[in-house]
Amino acid sequence: MTVLVIGSVNIDSTYYVDEFPCNGETIVSSRSINNLGGKGINQAIAIARGGIDVTFLGVVGNDFKSNKEVIKVLKKEKKLKLRLAYKDVSTGKAIIEVNKHGENKIIIYSGANSYLTKDIIDLNIDLIKNADIICLQNEIPISTNEFILFLAKKYCKTIIYNPAPYIKFKDNLYAKIDYLLPNESELNAMTKGKTIENKCEYLLSKGVKNIIVTLGNKGAYYKNSEKSNYFPAIKQKHVVDTVGAGDTFNGYFATGLAKNLDIEKCINLALKASGLSVTRLGSTSSIPYLKELK
Ligand code: RIB
Repeated sequence: MTVLVIGSVNIDSTYYVDEFPCNGETIVSSRSINNLGGKGINQAIAIARGGIDVTFLGVVGNDFKSNKEVIKVLKKEKKLKLRLAYKDVSTGKAIIEVNKHGENKIIIYSGANSYLTKDIIDLNIDLIKNADIICLQNEIPISTNEFILFLAKKYCKTIIYNPAPYIKFKDNLYAKIDYLLPNESELNAMTKGKTIENKCEYLLSKGVKNIIVTLGNKGAYYKNSEKSNYFPAIKQKHVVDTVGAGDTFNGYFATGLAKNLDIEKCINLALKASGLSVTRLGSTSSIPYLKELK
């Protein structure tokens, strides 16, 4: 099966601290790293490292080609094909704080990602027509994602949608999503209901076919119209950085689907990969290769 990811590229600057600063406080970081990031490219790299051929469509700025470190990272990914558009603006950026528990706070500046508009999709329609599975997130304009959902259904493609960060979208789009993968806070923003189970029922009633809620160190919850189940996380003693764990989960989930694994196996594979990613620093730098999971 062929997988297409359409989404963001960021240059992440991560600062490691003991505790997050309070309002108005200045603190000193013990370490800082720059890393290729952005939910779109992170997910595409996770799929490639999972052993599946994947194409990534995104927009970067005029500063991208001169970033030798990033180009080096991308060249190593033999399963990843890039279709990049260039705009005369800055590439997307993320400023990330990670505390001693591995928790993170992220501010993104969209930059070139905000230029991933309908005309770029029209120019690259061949990618949509040729894909079996299309992965989306919310770091490009929501109107573009709405257009892709419309095209994906027209051409009978499977959609995996990671609604991160949460942005409200039209109610009639839920029915076009095959696999919705929110985290708990995105689920809360999208739904009514008291429990996770109630909230998932609400989204199923809107037409989503399958929901997988990622629950951090508690694992994941899956529900569709026929079955539901909790999946425990793999316990890690040394969590150093949770940035990109959700992307690793999404990417490896898509990898499982592309390998025709059943849904339980896809979720367990994704939990294994994201569980390993939190023991490492950085975003793309923390995503494991399949052979490391064995
Ligand atoms: O999900 C992690 C990603 O969120 C980071 O790589 C950062 O760029 C932001 O997009």
